[in-house]
Amino acid sequence: MSETSSGNGKVVVNRSMSLDGFIAGPGHAMVDYWGPGRIADFVAPDDVAEIAAATGAMLIGRRTWEVGSKIEAEDPGSVDYPFSGPFFLLTHRPPEPPDPDLTILSGDIGDVVATALDAAGGKNLEILGADVAGQCLGRGLVDEILVYVLPVLLGDGIPFSSPGLTRVDLEPVSSARSRDATILRFRVRK
Ligand SMILES: NC(=O)c1ccc[n+]([C@@H]2O[C@H](COP(=O)([O-])OP(=O)(O)OC[C@H]3O[C@@H](n4cnc5c(N)ncnc54)[C@H](OP(=O)(O)O)[C@@H]3O)[C@@H](O)[C@H]2O)c1
Repeated sequence: MSETSSGNGKVVVNRSMSLDGFIAGPGHAMVDYWGPGRIADFVAPDDVAEIAAATGAMLIGRRTWEVGSKIEAEDPGSVDYPFSGPFFLLTHRPPEPPDPDLTILSGDIGDVVATALDAAGGKNLEILGADVAGQCLGRGLVDEILVYVLPVLLGDGIPFSSPGLTRVDLEPVSSARSRDATILRFRVRK
């Protein structure tokens, strides 16, 4: 468990990834990345629902939030996720006007993760965003990595790991086919 773990809640980096290791297309393109349809079309709805049910809070990097907001504006409902718990946005630039559904956090990543994990009420904290996940991995705050491997080779785009991340050793937990995706889970060795 991470230094910040509370109850049974884990800090989980949760990502979809192309088979060649990209989590978005060039220039953060997401729709080009997953192709026609929606991300949920790749994964069995029951698996998405089960993972969402184990999640008590989400910590989202500013750029991920911007990309998600743009997609939602262009294609309403396309980023829907069966989750209604607290959302924490990590940014130095709180959006204007304030969004009542978001709690803004900033500063030391250890403090930020502790606050968001506490709000998860014993469930998992999902970390969304390559830069944010990199900071969390670099500080040994991540318990688990959950990857949806999508059946596509992109050739270029935003890589899973952000620059500066040093080696992290993982312990395989499970791998399972879910519709057209493969769900891989790893425990982070501490
Ligand atoms: N495939 C997937 O499952 C998946 C999931 C999530 C994201 N993504 C993709 O990943 C990309 C985004 O990742 P990213 O690495 O570019 O960015 P990110 O991690 O989403 O956000 C980084 C930003 O968060 C803010 N931030 C980070 N640490 C902070 C701290 N300690 N205090 C205050 N603010 C902090 C900074 O924004 P400011 O300083 O500007 O406020 C920073 O530029 C997008 O393309 C997104 O679509 C893919």
